Amino acid sequence: ADPELQLVARRIRSFPDFPVPGVLFRDISPLLKDPDSFRASISLLANHLKKTHGGKIDYIVGLDSRGFLFGPSLAQELGLGCVLIRKRGKLPGPTVSASYTLEYGKAELEIQRDALEPGQKVVVVDDLLATGGTMRAACELLGQLQAEVLECVSLVELTSLKGREKLTPVPFFSLLQFE
Ligand code: PRP
Ligand code: MG
Repeated sequence: ADPELQLVARRIRSFPDFPVPGVLFRDISPLLKDPDSFRASISLLANHLKKTHGGKIDYIVGLDSRGFLFGPSLAQELGLGCVLIRKRGKLPGPTVSASYTLEYGKAELEIQRDALEPGQKVVVVDDLLATGGTMRAACELLGQLQAEVLECVSLVELTSLKGREKLTPVPFFSLLQFE
């Protein structure tokens, strides 16, 4: 397999029953700790997006909070800026919001009303896709601003939860898939 992808895969740890019983937690801490692995993860995502969308992307959108660990680096690698979607109550000024159900819990996401202009093209990045609730809510928010979501991406995808189906018709790409 791809040696860059191997570097990423080797640096993701699994913890059973965290944060609640029945959830197998995928921990990206080792990936962030190792510069070669982190660089590989950014370069793999960036190369995919360059191949798929060329120069058509206006902004990368990062999701609070673990998506923030990748959003700005990915944006930088593509020569783009990064826009933030945050959990409720964190952003100043006028915002729009969308609520969603999480693999564990319920929450609300917000974006600043002036973060994007209608018609701007974005790619959303998060660390992991589980049920897809978070990514789906992000797409809804971006729709409220009339931004166009070209694609959603994550490092890890938990395939058995079928989160990507929740995003249709928006394409979804992940580096690593777990059942
Ligand atoms: C985790 C993860 C994704 C989301 C995936 O975030 O970082 O954002 O869950 O789950 P879903 O596909 O079922 O929505 P979490 O809300 O735990 O918070 P954090 O990123 O702030 O740690
Ligand atoms: Mg998250």
